[in-house]
Amino acid sequence: MELYLDSANIEEIRHAASLGIISGVTTNPSLLAKEDPKIDVRKRILEIHALVGGHLSVEVVSTDADGMLREADEILSWFPEATIKIPMIPEGLKAVRKLSDQDVETNVTLIFSPTQALAANNAGATYVSVFVGRLDDLGADGMEVVRDVRDIWDTQGLSSLILAASIRHPLHIVEAAKAGADISTCPYKPLMQSLQHPLTDKGLAAFLADYKKMQEEIAKLKG
Ligand code: E4P
Repeated sequence: MELYLDSANIEEIRHAASLGIISGVTTNPSLLAKEDPKIDVRKRILEIHALVGGHLSVEVVSTDADGMLREADEILSWFPEATIKIPMIPEGLKAVRKLSDQDVETNVTLIFSPTQALAANNAGATYVSVFVGRLDDLGADGMEVVRDVRDIWDTQGLSSLILAASIRHPLHIVEAAKAGADISTCPYKPLMQSLQHPLTDKGLAAFLADYKKMQEEIAKLKG
């Protein structure tokens, strides 16, 4: 399962990219506004693109297909490899179909059910983003939707990539991988938490202390 960073923060993206563990970045209007409500979106997106050569989802804000397609054209003029992120609404599906027919990659966002994922796949979506955490927040089992989508995809031989989104903690990453998600897009904090284990830190401290002791003994012998 590939990992993307779900962020519009340059420092977070720079650090995660430097670790070599992410193959893309997903953004949305809320993440951009969190950085700065007056943010220059084009400039920030191009900064992110320069940091992470791989996938970059950029979301449209129109709610009609023509508006979405106009925005997609503008985003693609910034950089032609952009993935256009489109909300899972009927007008969004229309736009996805048109973009897919032009071989433009799309990421259908705000998916909360297998039927929405199926419709997005049939419209030609490259990625279907299932929002796990927001379902969990309502007391539902968000990962169940990822599992159902995977089952349906395997039964039917469907091709959109399954993207587990709205990730809240490292266990979501584990569950998404077990559920067969192709990608999981994580905020910086759970991604960094997922790299840590107290036994790793304890073990490294012991290795370094033993190595230091060894060096001290060698130094004593020398002289
Ligand atoms: C996905 O691409 C979305 O940007 C994101 O995962 C939304 O997550 P949230 O529920 O934490 O806002």
